Amino acid sequence: MSTGDKFTEVQSEVQKSYEQAKSAHDLMSRITELLHDRMLKYNWVGFYMIEDGARGNPPMLALGPFQGAMTPHTRIPLHQGICGAAASTGQTVVVDDVTKDPRYLACSIETKSEIVVPVFNRGKVVGELDIDSHFPAAFKQEDRDLVEFCAGLLGKYLEKSPA
Ligand code: SME
Repeated sequence: MSTGDKFTEVQSEVQKSYEQAKSAHDLMSRITELLHDRMLKYNWVGFYMIEDGARGNPPMLALGPFQGAMTPHTRIPLHQGICGAAASTGQTVVVDDVTKDPRYLACSIETKSEIVVPVFNRGKVVGELDIDSHFPAAFKQEDRDLVEFCAGLLGKYLEKSPA
């Protein structure tokens, strides 16, 4: 199978999961399982969702469904890490070499590169899809397209759910 076929196949499996998902949580779990199982360089795959700060506390990114080793970063402030950068700017962040990015919060010593894609609901960032790789510069344009497709589907699912 050529690489292009693999991306198309995984994308259509993700689309099927969207159609079958029983809840947003279920869709997030299915996406993390599919990406982690099928994409060999995606060694940690997880969602972080924004929790609004209650009683004057600042909002935080809270770890949601994930696949891979447990991370010490279960809650991340919006001004910290590559995760915080993606959530606060609303832009995809791709880091080819995490050792050269001062924003990086270490999750595993094996991680070499990372991609974080924001999830939008009605124009507002509500979370993100974070993927770590043990390989440097693992995330090329077609990976970015696939991960943005997945994050976009979660946003679409949230938008059709009651506000
Ligand atoms: N590396 C992330 C933290 C989350 S772990 O990768 C799972 C960051 O720099 O924000």
